[in-house]
Amino acid sequence: MGYDGDQPVGYAYGAPLPQGSRWWGGLLTDVPADVTAETGTRTYALSELMVREPWRKTGVARQLHSALLATRREERATLLVDQTHPKVHALYRSWGWTTLGDLRPRLADAPLFHAMLLGLPVAL
Ligand SMILES: CC(C)(COP(=O)(O)OP(=O)(O)OC[C@H]1O[C@@H](n2cnc3c(N)ncnc32)[C@H](O)[C@@H]1OP(=O)(O)O)[C@@H](O)C(=O)NCCC(=O)NCCS
Repeated sequence: MGYDGDQPVGYAYGAPLPQGSRWWGGLLTDVPADVTAETGTRTYALSELMVREPWRKTGVARQLHSALLATRREERATLLVDQTHPKVHALYRSWGWTTLGDLRPRLADAPLFHAMLLGLPVAL
C-alpha cells in the first residue's frame, strides 16, 4: 500500500512462482524451455498494480512498483498485460520491462496477454 499522508493512493502485490508453476502454461510463443523453468526462488510475479485516479501521472505508480520489487530477492519479475491495453504495455516497457511473448491463461474466456519480464534488482 502507498499513502500520501493519511490517504491510501494505491497498491501493488504479487508472489513468487513456485517450482512447476502453471503461470507459463498458457504461453503461446515458443521460447527455450529454460526460460520458463521455475525453481521457487527464480521469479516474482507482479499480480496487480493500481493507483487511485488523483494520484495517476504523478510518478506514484512507478514508486509503488519499484518499492515492492526492491524488497525481492528473486532474479527476475514477470507480469501479464492485457493486449487491449497498449498504453499500459508501453508504460511497463518505459520502466524497463521486456515482452517475452503472448500468453492466454488456460481459463474460460481468459484475455490474451503480453507476458513481460524484468531483471531484478530494480533501482529505486
Ligand atoms: C496502470 C497504472 C498504475 C499506471 O499509472 P500511471 O503510471 O500514473 O499512468 P497512467 O494512469 O497515466 O496510465 C498510462 C496510460 O495508460 C492508460 N491506462 C491505465 N490503465 C488502463 C487500463 N486498465 N485500461 C486501459 N488503459 C489504461 C491510461 O489511460 C494512460 O493513458 P493516457 O496517457 O492516454 O492518459 C494506473 O493507470 C492504474 O491504476 N490503472 C488501473 C489498474 C490497471 O490497469 N493496472 C495495470 C494492470 S494490473
